[in-house]
Amino acid sequence: MLIRTLRYCLSAFRPKTSTMQHAHLHNIQKHFFGLSPSRFSYFQSKKFWITGAGTGYGRAIAHFLSLAGATVIISGRRRPMLQKTVEEAVNLGARPDKFIIIPMDVTNPDSVRLACKKVISLDKAIACLINNAALPSDRSSPFPLLDNSLETWERTMKTNLIGPWLLCRTMAPHMAEAGSLRILNVSSFAGWAGTSGGGIYNVSKAALNSLTFNMACEFEEAFPEADVQVNAVIPGEALSEMNRNSANSPERIISMTAKILSTLPDGPNGYFFSDCGLHLEFCTSRSYPKSLG
Ligand SMILES: NC(=O)c1ccc[n+]([C@@H]2O[C@H](COP(=O)([O-])OP(=O)(O)OC[C@H]3O[C@@H](n4cnc5c(N)ncnc54)[C@H](OP(=O)(O)O)[C@@H]3O)[C@@H](O)[C@H]2O)c1
Repeated sequence: MLIRTLRYCLSAFRPKTSTMQHAHLHNIQKHFFGLSPSRFSYFQSKKFWITGAGTGYGRAIAHFLSLAGATVIISGRRRPMLQKTVEEAVNLGARPDKFIIIPMDVTNPDSVRLACKKVISLDKAIACLINNAALPSDRSSPFPLLDNSLETWERTMKTNLIGPWLLCRTMAPHMAEAGSLRILNVSSFAGWAGTSGGGIYNVSKAALNSLTFNMACEFEEAFPEADVQVNAVIPGEALSEMNRNSANSPERIISMTAKILSTLPDGPNGYFFSDCGLHLEFCTSRSYPKSLG
């Protein structure tokens, strides 16, 4: 049953093609991605920080936020890709001054520290830090857990898990001081999957789920005065650099993300939201079907 539901989720939005990538963003003032006009206005004059914003889902979220009137700090390793995000947004109608480009390598602690310093000096009141940057599995072997090198394992875990943790650890006290500590981690159904060949990516996303849940608990206790909302969004498949086999537009993530980002204070903390409505929890348990004797 779960597999069938997952298949449905992964195949949602299939008719879209890359040529229609901006179809919904072009018409944003007509549908607001399902938000009411007053909720849509929440984004105006807020600042968001997105990692991996030079491509795929990160770029789609950056486009939405800039068109909704927010200021978007965009990070990634390749400046030209970040510049392309800005150019595309401007072509869609966003103001160029709505973007702040801060290149950063999440696997490099010095780069993370420097980027955080820049962001904090701009404004501590970041409406949400969106940890979206990630690396896919190395698919060069059908058995990556047997064949991948230690270097591959470390690079993937540094990008998909340790980088987000470093960012959150550095930013959390400053954001909390400004009154609101909201973090959104972009996870994946892979974090719940047990598939041969899924390899380190699946492990890294399962660990990111755990990090999300544990940070939600710990930050709530550490910063009782702040509006703490640490959650994850679970998008299905979309065409991006890491996934060349999908016909879905990365725009599919916008509607759910927009809702999570614009919740009222005291909103969800420690939750996992899939864009197809599937209920997901950090941990699920199956009872052992046989007797242990
Ligand atoms: N596409 C899908 O089917 C799918 C499905 C489920 C979940 N997701 C999740 O969605 C998120 C976005 O992925 P995507 O599909 O949009 O793939 P993508 O186009 O490959 O985006 C990944 C981004 O991460 C950045 N990045 C990688 N390593 C980095 C590093 N060390 N430091 C800073 N940035 C780094 C990349 O930019 P640079 O190379 O310029 O640094 C790139 O912009 C990921 O968390 C992914 O796991 C994707």
